[in-house]
Order: sequence, then C-alpha cells, then structure tokens
Amino acid sequence: MVTEKPQQDTIDSILVEDRRFSPSSQFVENASINNSHHLKILNKLASDDNELFWAKLAHNEIDWHTRFNKALDDSQAPHYRWFDDGTLNISYNCIDRHLIDRANKKAIVFEGERGDKQTLTYRELHLAVSRFANVLKMYGIKRGDRVVLYMPMVPEAVIAMQACARIGAIHSVVFGGFSAKALKNRIEDAAAKAVITADGGYRGGKIIPLKTACDEALSEGCNSVQTVIVLKRTAQDIPMVQDRDIYWDEAIKHVSDDCAPEWVNSEHPLFLLYTSGSTGKPKGIQHSSAGYLLGAIVTMRWVFDANDNDIYWCTADVGWITGHTYVTYGPLALGMTLFMYEGAPTVPDAGRFWKLCQDHKVTVFYTAPTAIRALMKAGDDFPNKYDLSSLRLLGTVGEPINPEAWMWYHRVIGKERCPIVDTWWQTETGANVIAPLPGVVETKPGSCTLPLPGMDVAIVDESGKEIEDADKGGYLVIKKPWPSMLRTIWGDDKRYIETYWQRFNNKYYVAGDSARRDKDGYYWIMGRIDDVLNISGHRLGTMEIESALVANEKVTEAAVVSRPDELTGEAIFAYVVLKGERPTNGIDADLTNELQQWVAKQIGSIAKPKEIRYADNLPKTRSGKIMRRLLRTIACGEEISQDTSTLENEAILEQLQGKQ
Ligand code: WT7
Repeated sequence: MVTEKPQQDTIDSILVEDRRFSPSSQFVENASINNSHHLKILNKLASDDNELFWAKLAHNEIDWHTRFNKALDDSQAPHYRWFDDGTLNISYNCIDRHLIDRANKKAIVFEGERGDKQTLTYRELHLAVSRFANVLKMYGIKRGDRVVLYMPMVPEAVIAMQACARIGAIHSVVFGGFSAKALKNRIEDAAAKAVITADGGYRGGKIIPLKTACDEALSEGCNSVQTVIVLKRTAQDIPMVQDRDIYWDEAIKHVSDDCAPEWVNSEHPLFLLYTSGSTGKPKGIQHSSAGYLLGAIVTMRWVFDANDNDIYWCTADVGWITGHTYVTYGPLALGMTLFMYEGAPTVPDAGRFWKLCQDHKVTVFYTAPTAIRALMKAGDDFPNKYDLSSLRLLGTVGEPINPEAWMWYHRVIGKERCPIVDTWWQTETGANVIAPLPGVVETKPGSCTLPLPGMDVAIVDESGKEIEDADKGGYLVIKKPWPSMLRTIWGDDKRYIETYWQRFNNKYYVAGDSARRDKDGYYWIMGRIDDVLNISGHRLGTMEIESALVANEKVTEAAVVSRPDELTGEAIFAYVVLKGERPTNGIDADLTNELQQWVAKQIGSIAKPKEIRYADNLPKTRSGKIMRRLLRTIACGEEISQDTSTLENEAILEQLQGKQ
C-alpha cells in the first residue's frame, strides 16, 4: 500500500501544492449555499443525528407515494436498508413531478458528432418514456426483471433507463466500448430478459457496430434473453433475428402514450452496474431506488449548485456510474436542462467540447482528468477560439487530477472565474462522497477537499485504527452507512461482505483506495490498494486482463501492472510467458499487436495493454506469489530497491527489464 506522500514531479505542482483557491465573488453571489455557516449547520445536523439528517432530506427531496416511517434499518448489517417502508417511483420523481411548472422546459438537449441536434422538453420526455415503458410491458418485462442496455450516448439511452425505472424493471447498462464477450458475461450474470441496443453509434468518425456485437454475444448461451429492441441510429443495414429483434420506432407505434408509474419499495433495485474488482469476474453493483435517488439529488445541489437556469453537461457515458447519477437521474430529478453529446472530444478537432459549451451556453461542465489532459496537450488556441463565458462551474471525476491539468482547467477554461469541484466517489457509493461545496469550500489543486455533510469518512491503518496525523496515508473508509450506498453484489452477498466489509470486521466500508489528509483536513487520494487499475478514469482489474491474456493459446502466464502515463493516468503493462520461444530482448511488435487485439476482443479496447514484455517466467516468491511491486518498479523503469533474494529465479530480472 502507498503510505508516503508522493514526490512532486513538476515545478508547477510544487508552486501550487499549498495554494488555496477561493470561489470568485461572482460565483458566491449566485450560489445557493454561499456562506460557511450554512455548511456548518448541515454538518452539525448530520453529526448530531445522522439518521434524522437523511430522513429530513428524504422527506423534503423525494415525492413519495407512501412516506416512510424509519430512516435506517441496520438489523442485517452490513446489508443496510434505507427508508424501507416508503414507496415511490424514480421516473415519476425525474419527470412527472416537473410537468406542473416545467412541462415546456428543455429536459434534454442533444448534439451528435456530425452536428445533428435534438431537443426534448419535460412533456416530450414524459411521452417518450411512457411509450417506451409500454413497449417493455408489451414484451412481458415486469417489475424486477433485468434489462440490459448496450447503447450509444443518445437521448434514447436515458429514455430507456427511465422507462425501466417507470415499470420497476432493473436496468444494467453495459458501456458500448465493451466487447461482445464482456456483454455476454454481463447478460448472463444478470439473466436479463431483454437487451436494448442500436444499429450503431457514432464515435471518432466511425460507426460502433453495437448490434453486431450484441448478436455475437447472444449467439451462444444468454438463454434468458427473449427480446432485443434496436434503435435506428445509423440506419445501416443490419440483420434482424425473427421473433427476437424489433426496431424501436416500429415497437412504439403499437402502444399507448399513457403509462402509470409502478410504485416500488424504497429498497427495490433500480439498477445493476458491473464494475471491475480484484478477481477476474466483474461485480454487478446493485443500487436501491430511494436512497440512491436521494444521494443523486443532494449532491447535485451541494456540489453542482444546481439551479433552474443551468445548462448542465456531464460528459460521462451512460455506461459508467457518472452517466447514471449525473446524467440520467440527478439532473432530471431536479428538473434541470441536461446537455448530451455523442462522439469524441476531438472531432473535428480538439475544440469540439469548447464549441459545444459555447453553442449550447453550458453553465456547469463535468468531465474526467484524462479528457482535460488530452485537450490541454492540444494547446490553448482551441479553447481560446470560443466564448466560454456561460460557464460558471467546472467538475472533475474518476482519478486524481494532476495540479498542472487543474491549473490549466482553472485558467484557460474557467478563466479563473469558475470553481473546480474535484469529486471523489465510486460506482459503489452511488454519489459524490468527498467534494467541495463550491460556494463555501476553498479548493486546492489535486485534492477532492472535504467529505460531504452526512458522510463519515476516515483514514485508518492496517489494524483499523484511525490515523489523525497529517499527511500519513492509510485506507480510506466510510464509517457510517449512507443512503446511496450499494446494497450488495448481484447474486453474491458473500462477495459483497468480503470485498467491502470484512477487512475491518464489518465495521467500516472499505473503499479500496488509499488516501492522506493534510494539515487542513483536506483529502488527497493516493491510489488503489487492491489490484484495480484506473485507465483514463475507467476501472479495470489486473486479474481480468490477465485471464484474457492467458485465454490466448500462445500464452502460458501473464502478470499485469500499471505505470504512470501522462495522458491516461495509468497505462497497462503486461508481462507474458509464452508457450513457444521467447523473442529476443522480450519484445515482439507483431505478437504484441496480436495480443492487444485479442484483449480488445475479450474485454474491450480500453483494456489493451500499452506494452507487453516477454519473459521465460515471472518473478515469484518461494511461496509462489507473483511479485507485483517488483514488476511495477520495472515497468516504471525505476531502480530495483526491493529485496529480490526470495526470488525463485533471480536471473529473470534482466529479462523483465528488457536487457536480454
Ligand atoms: C475509483 C472509482 C466515480 C465515478 C468514476 C469512477 C477513482 C474517482 C476520483 C477523484 C481521485 C478518484 C478512485 C475510486 N476516483 N474519483 N476525484 N480523485 N480518484 O468510478 O469506476 O467506480 O472508480 O476511481 O480510485 O475508487 P469507478
């Protein structure tokens, strides 16, 4: 585990290390929480009676069908239940409740990569969701059934998610960049009854063949799937399977516009979202209805300072948790105008995001450090060409942001006028956990600042003792349950407890990150403590990539580590032992290319190793454990400082270093 404060590598980061940034007076003036007294009250209420704090918020923020009596049921801990005896409907809360005073307000504004545009008002969204919900019903989808979505970033993705929520079906969105095989595994794990996909999606000037991948996934196994609904996005010719496949536009012709929301219990699962862990098999993170929605709503208010005039843009794909909480549920629950873009940030050039901000008068912009770094590298001329004066707040998520990128975001995009909210959270937490309230909390480049009201976060050592010292790293844990927390891993309660709770006797939720707190109590995320990698803000397990490599007939053994990368944060480095002969100096460009394509096929392009080195065997201790730390040191090209005397075969070091 990383416990030391990392070395600062650039002059820039040394200069900004201890700098604090206060929000501009312009921002503060209009922010809904703009004095520290307000924040103090929230924090005091939360610490005096955490349950009551959440109960009050839940009563105020959610439109209940029947109200709950008890906020938290911890009798089955760590399976916590929130607002258990209440009933509600999530789509009602995201759409219907706005029909009174926001019916003609824009709910979704969309632009495609080729410049095609679409707008839906709340009234239109209501209609589209109701219709599609009736389509699902027509195909026999009922409350509790699982529906897999494998879609491009178009309004219909949001419509399909909301339609599932409307009838109490559980959606599981699979990122469109995942391969057929990854899709198949997720469909099977959830035993989905239907798949919603598209004939294709546009990205980077190309068509992503979603339906083809879907057909491949369904060609073997996946016996639970009865229906495939296909959105026409590209209008290309694709094969349709009789009695299984139906086009979206065809299906909605045969249903009514009226679909009463299905009232569900607070704890009814709203969705599953698969994410990588430290074993080869992704976990279906299961979220609740009411608690999840509450987390989405309060963080939209606190962290994104949501207001009715905002044009809010979160660039995340619906395939990730950010695309659930901060695209589909949070903004709509507050009746905001949501902007969506399908496509790459660099088409036709690296100015696209900034042009979109200008053209659509975006006020709040939320993206990932990887995107910021890539666009920063493209130069200031791109953003400088556009009028970014509509922006008032910027956000980042997914990985630590380096101070240099933070400063660029602050200066060149925010014109030193927009606060930056660096938000730490996870698929499992459902909503932001550590993040600033931008009108009140000063920011420091690279720190996600302070835990949000109600979130009892701590840093503990190996024995579970809280670390109070400044700058001393340890395990990041959450000490009290919170409404938007995951409920379990789909079909695997045991793994849920083992992964998140067992480490400290079920007392704390263990996030899997290490962190330190500085002298001002600000949190700095240091990295994962498990075998999870973070590539461009996307989470991948080393084991997952290793099993993909080993599944290739040429490979006997594989070990995957990461090394820092300027653009993607971390980059994947694989050590491979071949069945056949080892190439000289452990490098073989053709074979590497072949294995990269192989991994892309097994998991998806994001999982491709950037570099592969071939060795006769892997460094193992005498007890047979792969020495990952050593491999990481070598991948980073650093001097080996570890004790290698326990190595079974010390001679291997030269090979691993590519010297032989
Ligand atoms: C992991 C969760 C939550 C949305 C996107 C990723 C890392 C997330 C930050 C941040 C430093 C961050 C952590 C975390 N992470 N946000 N602001 N600063 N690291 O969701 O795929 O569930 O990944 O992303 O390592 O555990 P995810």
